[in-house]
Amino acid sequence: MAITMSTLDAAYEANRRRTQMIFDFVAPEAYYDRPIPLRHPFVFYEGHIPGFSFLTLVRRALGGAAIDEKLERLFQRGIDPASLTEASAASPDAWPDRESVRSFARSCDDRVRDALAHARIDDPLNPRLVRAESAHTIIEHEQMHQETLLYIVHQLPRERKRALPSEHRDGERPTYRRVSIPAGEATLGARREAIAFGWDNEFEENSVHVGAFEIEADDVTNADFLAFVDAGGEPPPFWRRTNEAWQLATLFESIPLPLSWPVYVTQRQAAAYAAWKSMRLPTEAEYHRAAYGTPEGKERVNPWGDAPPDHSRGNFGFARFDPVPVGSYPAGASAWGVNDLVGNGWEWTSTPFAPFEGFRPMISYPQYSADFFDGEHFVMKGASPVTHARLVRRSFRNWFRADYPYMYATFRCAA
Ligand code: AVJ
Ligand code: FE
Repeated sequence: MAITMSTLDAAYEANRRRTQMIFDFVAPEAYYDRPIPLRHPFVFYEGHIPGFSFLTLVRRALGGAAIDEKLERLFQRGIDPASLTEASAASPDAWPDRESVRSFARSCDDRVRDALAHARIDDPLNPRLVRAESAHTIIEHEQMHQETLLYIVHQLPRERKRALPSEHRDGERPTYRRVSIPAGEATLGARREAIAFGWDNEFEENSVHVGAFEIEADDVTNADFLAFVDAGGEPPPFWRRTNEAWQLATLFESIPLPLSWPVYVTQRQAAAYAAWKSMRLPTEAEYHRAAYGTPEGKERVNPWGDAPPDHSRGNFGFARFDPVPVGSYPAGASAWGVNDLVGNGWEWTSTPFAPFEGFRPMISYPQYSADFFDGEHFVMKGASPVTHARLVRRSFRNWFRADYPYMYATFRCAA
């Protein structure tokens, strides 16, 4: 389906509503809290999301007038420091009061809405508007920040958030299985003309020869990882020890460790577990082969086939905030019978985040990827429960530092 102006309009409104819902999880007195010291406090995000949209689409692409240069600069960009010292150096000494932030945000929203409704946002003669690049950029940027916001809310102490009642289900994990994938070609990235929008790091399309390998059919569960912790491995970041039993910190509460859920860990912890099992993490190309390859050779659009993503295919798209037992979505399995490659947690790979051949920084946000090609960030693929369905596409790549302990990221072992 072609993305028309009215669907971008609608996507903007839907985004704003969901972002508002997420802000409602933050107790008002926690507005200046910074539960993840490597990220800005909540106040930043309330200004950043609409501020970025306004700056990218209205000011930079359409040449619109400023609203407030000082606030536009303050809310321009987030941080990803390597250390706490760098984090405090990168942080402003004071933030505006909430009413000022909200009034700035409202002005940004008004101007963006007006542009989406009346301006020419798809203009082959304006480099920032070719195939509506700036409009797509602001839509997907906000969707990514909804996940960022949720994993920051996750770190707030319970009394500083407004919890929603949520149900959790533990279950039986499927029988342990490894799948053998024969040698073949994996297509990474995308052709610019092939998709309505992609971030700069998704281009160009490239083909990688992948040798034969084995991969686990299911994500490593909390039960699996518990054996490693009992043998002296480092406990995962969302686990809490109480007396004799392990608890899991879900978005809003603490529950007895659900043994059948995928374990969420850092890339370093994932690699340590794999080594303990005499295995390793899959590469990005192996992920592609397991997810999109087929025994017949033709690659699929999604692991389950060419049908678009919906809630029957995996745990993504905000159907819930937390995981479900691994293997809960047989309708989402890949051609090789590998489960949950999209949804229920991002999948760590061993591949450092780097540009594909033909990479060109995107004009609507040149620092988006280029600042992170430093060998310290690693590619994650797939989706978590709180990844927007619009971000579910074969070429989409996510990345974080190897020891970043806040992401909804799981893994499976390869050999
Ligand atoms: C692509 C998720 C790693 O959160 O740092 C948001 C997305 N970039 N604003 C991040 C992003 C700028 C980015 N990730
Ligand atoms: Fe951002």
